[in-house]
Amino acid sequence: MSERIAFIGGGNMASAIISGLIKQGISANTIDVVEPAAEARDKLLANFGIQAQAAPAATLRNASLVIWAVKPQTFKDAALAVAAHTAQALHLSVAAGICSDSIATWLGTERVVRAMPNTPALVGKGITGLFARAGASQADRDRVSQIIATTGESLWFDTEDKLDVVTALSGSGPAYVFYFMEAMTMAGTEMGLSREQAQQLAVATFAGASALAQASTDAPQVLRQRVTSKGGTTFAAISSMEDNDVRALFIDAMYAARERAKELGDEFGAA
Ligand SMILES: NC(=O)c1ccc[n+]([C@@H]2O[C@H](COP(=O)([O-])OP(=O)(O)OC[C@H]3O[C@@H](n4cnc5c(N)ncnc54)[C@H](OP(=O)(O)O)[C@@H]3O)[C@@H](O)[C@H]2O)c1
Repeated sequence: MSERIAFIGGGNMASAIISGLIKQGISANTIDVVEPAAEARDKLLANFGIQAQAAPAATLRNASLVIWAVKPQTFKDAALAVAAHTAQALHLSVAAGICSDSIATWLGTERVVRAMPNTPALVGKGITGLFARAGASQADRDRVSQIIATTGESLWFDTEDKLDVVTALSGSGPAYVFYFMEAMTMAGTEMGLSREQAQQLAVATFAGASALAQASTDAPQVLRQRVTSKGGTTFAAISSMEDNDVRALFIDAMYAARERAKELGDEFGAA
């Protein structure tokens, strides 16, 4: 019998991972989901043919891997309800902020891996930061790498505090990109393009620049300098940003995100 995977929480992030697993050939009937919201259960049934459970049941005992995809504020209650059924499993959490000390305490196991994914996982283009507790074996880490590969790239970190930085950078990062797209679309519209035209140009520019950066061995800074000839149009824009300290403000914003990640851990973590 193939190994069973259980998801606690069947929302967006769980769906992204489930979709990746099914595309990789994992059968939907080896996946269990605990999801209290009827609407989310209906979606899981419609999208993947998975009949989710409204509450944890003894069938979770068959899971060799449990993936935690609940909001940080509901993690503790969910963990206390599930712990009795999952002593045998490896646990993988995608919840922002909740530290592995708390998870290990709530679940009574040291086989815990934390992941910080991002929403491009929904289209197989995510990037995930990973941290394993000492109680997780190399085989456990390999299994997690394999699972996460279905949603995009991943990177392991040797200390857990780095996951707060990952949260501030790539976890929250898609929203920064959307924010820039929004601003570029607004400016284009103000300057006379239609909203659709401006949005198409903004979205395609991010896609194209990202593809170029990924295909190149040069750092983004070099790529930028290459298209910024002195006295030109790009130079005028970048100079305006530098004069207005956009870079420093952006760095401040990322510090705010990291601070919030730490606070979430303090607020909803601990034994
Ligand atoms: N989305 C992202 O970009 C992203 C990126 C990185 C990390 N994450 C992390 O991923 C986690 C899940 O995020 P999400 O966007 O997938 O949230 P979501 O769509 O709200 O999914 C969470 C689901 O868990 C359900 N749930 C609540 N209590 C539960 C319980 N006791 N047992 C089982 N399920 C329960 C929720 O149901 P109700 O609606 O009834 O509460 C909800 O459907 C979060 O911790 C977040 O920090 C998300």
